Formats: sequence, C-alpha cells, structure tokens
Amino acid sequence: MTEPERFIRVHHAGPLRGEVLVPGAKNSVLKLMAASLLADGTFEITNVPGIVDVGIMAELLRAIGAEVIETPDYGVVTITNSGGLTPVAPFELVQKIRASINVLGPLLTRCGEVTIAMPGGDDFGTRPIDMHIAGLEAMGATFEFDGGTVMARADRLHGAEITFDFPSVGATENILTAAVLANGQTIIHNAAREPEIIDLCEFLNEMGAQVRGAGTSTLRIDGVEPGALHGCEHETVPDRIQAATYIAACAVTGGELDLLNAQSKHMEMVLSRFRDMGLEIESLPYGLRVAAPERLRSTDVATLPYPGIATDYKPLIITMLAVADGVGVVTENLYPGRFAYVEELQRLGADIKTDGHHALIRGVDRLIGAPVLSHDIRAGAAMVVAGLAAEGTTTITGVHHIDRGYDDLVGRLKRVGAEIERIGC
Ligand code: EPU
Repeated sequence: MTEPERFIRVHHAGPLRGEVLVPGAKNSVLKLMAASLLADGTFEITNVPGIVDVGIMAELLRAIGAEVIETPDYGVVTITNSGGLTPVAPFELVQKIRASINVLGPLLTRCGEVTIAMPGGDDFGTRPIDMHIAGLEAMGATFEFDGGTVMARADRLHGAEITFDFPSVGATENILTAAVLANGQTIIHNAAREPEIIDLCEFLNEMGAQVRGAGTSTLRIDGVEPGALHGCEHETVPDRIQAATYIAACAVTGGELDLLNAQSKHMEMVLSRFRDMGLEIESLPYGLRVAAPERLRSTDVATLPYPGIATDYKPLIITMLAVADGVGVVTENLYPGRFAYVEELQRLGADIKTDGHHALIRGVDRLIGAPVLSHDIRAGAAMVVAGLAAEGTTTITGVHHIDRGYDDLVGRLKRVGAEIERIGC
C-alpha cells in the first residue's frame, strides 16, 4: 500500500517522563478574538496556542476590517480596530470553523446588522444555532435566512431575560457578547459555566463591559454605551483538553509527567475519573503532576455540560479504557454522532461496541499498530495516544484536524520520550 503524503507516525514507546507546557485554550482564544470586534482600540491577547484555527479566525477578522498581527513564536495576537467594519462573514472562512459563529453577537450589537454563512467545524452530527437566534430575537433582532446565509438586524438590541433549555457554550457566548452593548440589563439563566466562558467574561470586563456571575448558571450583563469599551491586554486560560491529552498519553504509557500551567480546578470531574482509573494526580503551584499505574482500571463515564465531563475528553477516555483492566461504559449526552473514531480504535485491536449514545469498552492487553484516520480534532489526538499504547507502528492521517486544535502535539510528546514524527508536513 502506498503511504499518504502527510501523516504522523507513532511507535510504541516506554513511559513518557518529563515536563509539558500546556498551551492556551483554542475554545477561549477564538472567542476572545471575535469579542474584540465590540470596540475600537488595540487588544493584545497572550498565551495564544499556535494552531490553525487561530489563523482562520485572524483571516475572518481581517475580512471584517480588523488589523490582526499574529506572533506565534511569542504566543501573541494583536488586534487593532479603527472603525469601518464590514459586518459580513464570508462562507470560505466561516465553513472552516464553528467558532466563526461567535462574530454574530459582537457584529450585530455593534453594527446593527450582520450577514454570516452557517458555520462549519467538526463533522459530528447536526449542530444547530436555534438557541443563538431565539436569544437574539428576544433582544429585538430580526433574522432572515437565504441559501445557507443568516442575515440579522437590530437598530439597538435591548436587554432581555433569557432561559436556555440547555447550557449551550456558543449560545451563551453570542448572547453575552451581544448584551454588552444592548440597552438595559440582560439575564441569561442556565448559562454555560466553562472556564472558557469565565475567560470571556473577564476579557469583556477588562474592555469596560459590566458582566456579573461568570462561572455560575446566571449571567447578568448591564449594557454600556459603545464609547465605554476600549482595547485591553488579556492572557488566555490554559487548555484543559490539551492538558487531558497529555494525561492520557502519560496514562497509556505508564509514565510520569508534570503538566505546567494545567489548572486542576478546571478539570475536577475528569481528574476524579482519571484517579478512579488508577492515576495519581497531584496539584502543584504551577500545574499538575501525574503518575500512571502499570495498568489502568476501567470505569464508567458520562459526558455532560461543565462542570460535568466534557464531550471533548471522550475519545481520550475511550482510548484509555481500550487498554484498561476490565469493562467500562461511556455515555455521550451531547453529540450522538461522536463515536466515528471507534472504528479506528477497533482497527488497532480495541474491543468496543457502540449502541446509540453508549460505548462498551472491554480493555485488551495490548493494541497493535495500524494505519488510522483522524476524524476530528479530539479524535485525532486520541489516535496519537492510541498509537503510543499500540505495539509496532501506527500512522495517523487527517493531520489537518489535529493542527486545528493542538499546538505542536508531536514536538511536545517527543520531548517527553515518545517515538513520534510528522511526515510530509
Ligand atoms: N445546540 C443546539 N442549538 C443551539 C446550540 C447548541 O441544539 O443553538 C446543541 C448542539 O448541536 C450540540 C450541543 O447543543 O449538540 C452542544 O452545543 P454547544 O453550543 O454547547 O457547543 P458549541 O459551542 O457548538 C463548543 C466547543 C466544542 C465542544 C462544545 C461542548 C467551540 C468552538 N466548540 O461547541 O468543542 O465540544 O462546546 O463543550 O468552543 C472542539 O474543541 O473540538 C469542540 C468540538
């Protein structure tokens, strides 16, 4: 069989040991960048991960009229807005990342209108934006839909009391950012509580917004006049999903890692489950220390909105369970279609059965290396982790997915002893 042009090659290696610096969170920085559209001025965002999605968001902001300077070597993005925004988000950019929908709230509230193609992103089931739309309509916006494009208008949004059926991350972010410049107070009940939402609330307050309740289910936003907002400096919150990826890599190799910058307070539930699996995890002043047992123990896991266990951890957890001692059941409560990578793990010899929202994983003594495909960002990272656990060589194609959300995954793993390389890219 001819090898594909771009892939990651992983060989089974011994325990990973050393230190990994956990980069800033993709799912925060993209939202901070979009929120900068709310005001004129200069925004300096630090601890920015070197990932493809940041470049795509930068392109989107430039298309709208912002000046964006990326300095990936220093983890800095500088955005300067000097007015004159064109509130149109073009299809070519929007279809690449889900987070492009985050320009909807800021542009609508600031410019009074916005035209945006329906967002793309990972391919796992339907991901509608009905809650974003209903929330903005409650604030006075009107919507038109035409051939995959959403057009929204509002002379000036007004405050409203909005109760979500479900604590959607994206809908919380769009209503929150729109409310910052609305007339009056907006209250969001059943808001998402993720660390990345807290980061966004802090960023907005640093710009001059009036947001209270970050990290709770009720956000209260008192709208301010446009002139009250200004540029600011902000450090992106560390990425809990990347942190968990290195924990999983450590776990399946029986290693010991220090994860610099990892925040245990953002990962309590998942760390508790990792402890159930036999990992020793210690909080350090500057991160986390993780030590893996000789063999992991199985456990059951269900994904839930934060502070529950995020769906993004699930491919990693299933990979860990694939080599654990015993049987584990994983239940997906957010995205029914997010089990596509299970077939890839089966190719490596994993014993997994899926049925609707559930996966039953019987741990095997060992996985055997094989060619596998990365279906999305998190599934791709899980394939790399599986490759570390598998005897022989595993090749992972679909590397572009991994690059969307992981800052030098291969380099970081290599520096702690993994036998891993990128080929053709
Ligand atoms: N949903 C609706 N209607 C809406 C909004 C959401 O039905 O108006 C549904 C979605 O279809 C989905 C569920 O609610 O089934 C969760 O959606 P949510 O809005 O909470 O998620 P999101 O904003 O689309 C973000 C992350 C995802 C992460 C989820 C859940 C970004 C860019 N994406 O998506 O991250 O899985 O929250 O935590 O922040 C990733 O990073 O790989 C990734 C997919």
